[in-house]
Amino acid sequence: MRGFTDKMAEEKSKYTKRADGRKFDELRKVEAKVGIIPEADGSAMYKSGDTIAIASVFGPRTLHPQHMQNPETGILRVNYDMMSFSVYERKRPGPNRRSQEISKVTEWALAPCVDLSEFPNSVVDVFIEIPQADAGTRVAGINAAAMALAHAGIPMKELASAVAVGKLDKTIVVDLSKEEEDFEEGEGATDIPVCFLSRSKKLSLLQLDGKISTEELNKAIELGKKACEEINKIQTKALKEIKE
Ligand code: CDP
Repeated sequence: MRGFTDKMAEEKSKYTKRADGRKFDELRKVEAKVGIIPEADGSAMYKSGDTIAIASVFGPRTLHPQHMQNPETGILRVNYDMMSFSVYERKRPGPNRRSQEISKVTEWALAPCVDLSEFPNSVVDVFIEIPQADAGTRVAGINAAAMALAHAGIPMKELASAVAVGKLDKTIVVDLSKEEEDFEEGEGATDIPVCFLSRSKKLSLLQLDGKISTEELNKAIELGKKACEEINKIQTKALKEIKE
């Protein structure tokens, strides 16, 4: 049950209604499809509103250069990239600090899902491309990549599902659009991407861009967890629909 202070905070918030009419805990329209790149070992698309992520998986294959190999296990390597036409103001092609950071946190978010112990000295490459961006591209990329890894037949302990939760002034909302991410009134916008694992229920990604109290953060994580359970169902359904 929501406490009195909670209600007061919501009443005073300058963000009382979502621009696209969604409920505060409602996801954007989601589409998920598995098996979209025939040449890849595994592939998937995850669309959330106007954000689209495409993931392709190649491997396991021998890792080069040799000094990077681990004789005890294979490794997961993620490369995230936003296409130059994916945003309103053209993005300079090629890697940058942001894409390197997202590649790394995505790798960490997905690593607990896979068991690569059967593939020493190997690498499993995950390429995430963003043809269209309207906020939440890293979480859309994680959702697509988790499906693509399963599609590639990589041994998996569990699935990863991710969503960006946000605090707009004092209101906690799920699956921010770019317009919401840019909200500046009151306390402004806080962006909190989270990733939950399906079996262990562990958080494998938690980032925070902005300010939030511990109480609000706990509420945001709880809403994120529920949204991720919904996303997990969508991913599982898409994986069951593979026609091969
Ligand atoms: O995409 P995500 O929310 O995971 O990461 P972000 O760094 O918080 O970026 C938020 C949004 O800003 C992206 O989804 C794009 O819509 C936009 N963006 C942009 O317009 N130009 C860039 N160079 C990078 C991001």
